[in-house]
Amino acid sequence: MLLKDKIALVTGASRGIGAETAKLFAREGARVVVNFNKNVLAAQAVVEEIQSNGGVAFAVQADVTEVSQVENMMRLVEAHFGVVDILVINAGLHFKVAPFMQLTWEDFSWKYYGEMKSFYNSAKAVIPGMLAKKSGVIVAVSSGLSRHPGFGFSSHSASKSAVDALVKSLALELGGAGIRVNTVAPGLTITDATSWMPKDQQEQAANHTALKRNGTPEDIARAILFMASELSGHVTGTYLSVDGGSAMI
Ligand SMILES: NC(=O)c1ccc[n+]([C@@H]2O[C@H](COP(=O)([O-])OP(=O)(O)OC[C@H]3O[C@@H](n4cnc5c(N)ncnc54)[C@H](OP(=O)(O)O)[C@@H]3O)[C@@H](O)[C@H]2O)c1
Repeated sequence: MLLKDKIALVTGASRGIGAETAKLFAREGARVVVNFNKNVLAAQAVVEEIQSNGGVAFAVQADVTEVSQVENMMRLVEAHFGVVDILVINAGLHFKVAPFMQLTWEDFSWKYYGEMKSFYNSAKAVIPGMLAKKSGVIVAVSSGLSRHPGFGFSSHSASKSAVDALVKSLALELGGAGIRVNTVAPGLTITDATSWMPKDQQEQAANHTALKRNGTPEDIARAILFMASELSGHVTGTYLSVDGGSAMI
């Protein structure tokens, strides 16, 4: 078991990539906090699946863009499990897909500040405990679009680029304290967040990969597990593309 007895907090774990990550972490022995924002039934379903397979998990509602809600969540997590060993910053903040000139500042800044607040609030909440333990792992889920533009995705690209930059800054500042910080960058992955895309666009994206298929939440979860476990014990400040090879084409 790669995460035996570790305490892991996965933000946005009620659905999609976060849900698969939470389930995989639990199979690898972690005690998992399934954070969600609105979808309590989906979060409970993830917890029940973990528990029915002998794992340990509980669900906590918190809008990670709201500092007071994150602080409340941390109080519950520490009372329930203890200090967090692994933080996965994953919550998927929806955003308007439209050309830059059609976005208002409200559209743009909602996504940009949302991603920053999500990262800032979650990281600030767990790092003191990790510093005290002199160990910890943070994995931020970015996007292939942080490095490669997509038409209509400017707010997403800009905010995920900022996530990548923050990962490197934290990796530098926290490495000496035994805390690793890395980015996993999915390509198009079929989840609720992408199911709005017409099938022909999904096929086009699949054809633009070397592996000729789009990602699954399980593909991304396995890469997050690698970054969260000792398999990547000497890896920090890096950006792992999980995109079937589309970035190189
Ligand atoms: N899918 C892709 O193609 C793709 C590609 C590149 C990067 N990514 C990144 O991967 C991550 C996960 O995406 P996904 O496709 O798995 O998304 P998803 O299926 O839409 O799931 C989003 C998850 O985030 C939670 N969430 C949303 N806003 C939140 C908030 N303010 N506070 C706490 N939780 C919140 C949702 O909770 P509720 O259920 O309560 O709403 C849900 O659990 C995101 O960071 C996304 O940008 C995805």
